[in-house]
Amino acid sequence: MHVELRGVSKRYGGVQALRDVDLRIDRGSIHGLVGENGAGKSTLSKVIAGAVQPDSGDVIVDGRQVHYRSPRDALADGVTLVAQELALLPQRSVIENVFLGIESSRLGFVIDADVRRQYAQLSDRLGFGLPPKVRVGTLRTAEQQKVEILRALARHARLIVMDEPTAALTIDEAERLFAIVRSLQAEGTTIVYVSHLLDQVLNLVDTVTVLRDGQLVQTGPAASETPESLVVAMLGRSLNLAFPEKSFPAADAPVVLSVHDLTRTGALEDVSFDVKAGEIVGLAGLIGSGRSEVARAIFGADGHDRGTVELDGAELRVRKPSDAVRAGIAMLPESRKEQGLLMGRSIVENVTLPHLGEVSTAGFLAGSKQVRETSTLTKQLDVRARRVTSRVDTLSGGNQQKVLFAKWLFRRPRLLIADEPTRGVDVGAKRSIYELIARLAGEGLAVVLISSELEEVIGLAHRVVVMRRGRIVAEFDGRTVSEDAVMRAAFATAAAPAPSTEAT
Ligand SMILES: Nc1ncnc2c1ncn2[C@@H]1O[C@H](COP(=O)(O)OP(=O)(O)OP(=O)(O)O)[C@@H](O)[C@H]1O
Ligand SMILES: [Mg+2]
Repeated sequence: MHVELRGVSKRYGGVQALRDVDLRIDRGSIHGLVGENGAGKSTLSKVIAGAVQPDSGDVIVDGRQVHYRSPRDALADGVTLVAQELALLPQRSVIENVFLGIESSRLGFVIDADVRRQYAQLSDRLGFGLPPKVRVGTLRTAEQQKVEILRALARHARLIVMDEPTAALTIDEAERLFAIVRSLQAEGTTIVYVSHLLDQVLNLVDTVTVLRDGQLVQTGPAASETPESLVVAMLGRSLNLAFPEKSFPAADAPVVLSVHDLTRTGALEDVSFDVKAGEIVGLAGLIGSGRSEVARAIFGADGHDRGTVELDGAELRVRKPSDAVRAGIAMLPESRKEQGLLMGRSIVENVTLPHLGEVSTAGFLAGSKQVRETSTLTKQLDVRARRVTSRVDTLSGGNQQKVLFAKWLFRRPRLLIADEPTRGVDVGAKRSIYELIARLAGEGLAVVLISSELEEVIGLAHRVVVMRRGRIVAEFDGRTVSEDAVMRAAFATAAAPAPSTEAT
């Protein structure tokens, strides 16, 4: 499918999300779209897929001008979107979401043997191994993202727009997705691929387009770009892509967090480790290896059957997250939407209100002190918003992630548990977050860092703990750790059990 945008503009209130964009997407190509948080990538994706109507300009598909009024219109033409913000029906099963989907009104549709066979084929092809009958609302973010991808593929679209499809996938799952994208291309499907992972983009796409402040700044063959050249185009300046220098805590620094024999049947087994003041401990492992479960158990989001957690030498008895918050623990959860932010509230409310979601927030008014302190934090984190009183749901995905970070830092915790802290944020903001984590550790904060981006764990952590099947299987010194060693421990390639069985 050949798509052309001519002079496309879109405004949200005072924000010009897209400005006079001219773009050609060739039939059968894989077209990359990159840009800073808020550059307009998702808006452009939604325009192509009918989820947003431009204020002006033309969308021309295979030589014909189209006016999609909804994703369903676009789908009828063979265009579909894997959205950045998951758009699934939580009460429905996986298979229902894949084949019915939100845009369907086909009430008579039944999941019969034929549909189940199609599901099995699709699922095999992707190697996702998602049980078809599970309710989507009970799945974790990473699994929900897989449902989105399955849904797009089940539609046999001629153009698929993927807005950060790998944000929640492991390295091997992402590789499998790339193989599928390439085979779709070989079958004649056109793909628009949005991502902040510039290496991935350059390996995958034929053509890459850079957006900045809603404007198209360049478009051309991926082969003539490097991550550095893309960064210059995205930011209008170059950026040091190196990690901040590691400053290791003193050998006699006090232990802040001490976890002993933490066990939750079926999820965690005898997990023990310490984190000192000023130390960044990275938890590595595949999705489902128990990393997030450790975080959730410490934070009181899940219970545990056995074992203890000590903070500053005193046993911690947390029954719910608010207990952990009071004790001085902050957790940046993996999903900002369900666990982190009140989307209808302002930035300053989200940052300064205590225990959002647990107290009634009616009648809360942010005072000038809150506004001032929030502004300081959002500046440090480079949150791009018109003002701190803007509603969180008017921000781009990456900027929402930064607000979530600001919310936790506002509480000046003793221990920060950061679960995928840079998911969806752009290269520039990533570096700001790395520098901030390193600086806070330098000031004595204890940090547990979980990330699927191995480079991030290795680049920041003073010590790397590797988990597999709910246990700690290896530990590496941050001075000498390598990606290779961590991967080997995470997969246990020597024993070679199929890794996909771990993706629960
Ligand atoms: N529903 C909305 N209401 C108001 N403003 C919006 C809305 N959606 C997007 N915007 C604004 O439009 C601009 C472009 O947002 P968009 O989501 O397209 O960026 P993006 O490039 O996808 O960013 P990210 O990398 O963070 O996902 C941003 O300034 C954003 O705040
Ligand atoms: Mg986006």
